Amino acid sequence: NNRVFSGIQPSGVPTLGNYLGAIRNWVPMQDTHECIFCVVDLHAITVWQDPQELARQTREMAAALIACGLDPKRCILFLQSHVHAHTRLAWIFNCVARIGWLNRMTQFKDKAGKDREAASAGLYVYPNLMAADILTYHATKVPVGDDQKQHLELANDIAQKFNHDYGVDFFPTIEPLIQGVAARVMSLRDGTKKMSKSDPSDQSRININDDHDAIALKIRRAKTDPEPLPESEAGLEGRPEARNLVGILAAITGETHAGVLRHHGGKGFGAFKEVLAEALVAHLDPIRTEMNRLLQDPGALDAALRLGADRADAIATPICEEAERLVGFLPRR
Ligand code: TYM
Repeated sequence: NNRVFSGIQPSGVPTLGNYLGAIRNWVPMQDTHECIFCVVDLHAITVWQDPQELARQTREMAAALIACGLDPKRCILFLQSHVHAHTRLAWIFNCVARIGWLNRMTQFKDKAGKDREAASAGLYVYPNLMAADILTYHATKVPVGDDQKQHLELANDIAQKFNHDYGVDFFPTIEPLIQGVAARVMSLRDGTKKMSKSDPSDQSRININDDHDAIALKIRRAKTDPEPLPESEAGLEGRPEARNLVGILAAITGETHAGVLRHHGGKGFGAFKEVLAEALVAHLDPIRTEMNRLLQDPGALDAALRLGADRADAIATPICEEAERLVGFLPRR
């Protein structure tokens, strides 16, 4: 089967990293695959979220995804908490996954920080829920940014162990699709950290609904080194900030790093940043306008999400119930 699944946390407005690393690659897949896209509110609360903010950001995320080109008629777009198969299968996976596997997850180590004992248990089992998200649809294609690769490998380990433990060939192998020159967009303040919705500094990221002035300012202030841009890709070695900005322009214009450097190599960052900010504004302006228009009518958004949940449920629940039967749970009759 060819089913596509991916998800995004409503822990803020999507960043340029989410957009270039994931969302933008989802859009064309709607024409070629059966696509299921999920706003993962259950995952978001693995770190505390203000309830009103979470509700607002969840709607905002749905509007952002539609504004970026997801069409609720051509894909299934829904909220994770609306489809209970996710949590039901996640529990089974909590009992399949090994603690040793979870201990290797670098994202947990990053997010939990120094005081690991104080992290929520949900943050720890986060990858098990992610595996359930995908596998309760028997989805096999998962387009994500580079940072999710380890979680998808774990999902495959869980699927394999489930099949082995219960002597079945039930869950398929997942193929991570990590695409494009911007599979890992870095922070504008630190070229060694990924750009993130949850970074405390808004200056570290471009939000896809930033206006002209915000984009121009953030790009102008973005950290760089004092050298002009190199003429070839080899010259980006050891220059993470330069590589990041070149990669962003490449992604926006559909070029490679080398292509961008053929046009702009030798320029100082002042001039290059102007070109980059212009390109970003031109690309993101229609998205921001559409997102704001969609947010004028929350009722229509909620209706689209309810329809998406019904369609998701119809696929997910039978697969989840079959997994429950395989485990030995009696059906409720
Ligand atoms: P999240 O919400 O952190 O990010 C959503 C998508 O954006 C990608 N991404 C990036 N790509 C490039 N550069 C960046 N700086 C950057 N930051 C984020 C992510 O790789 C992701 O594809 N655990 C997931 C959500 C999830 C999921 C799933 C994904 C839950 N269940 C099942 C796939 C399948 C997450 O936190 O994504």
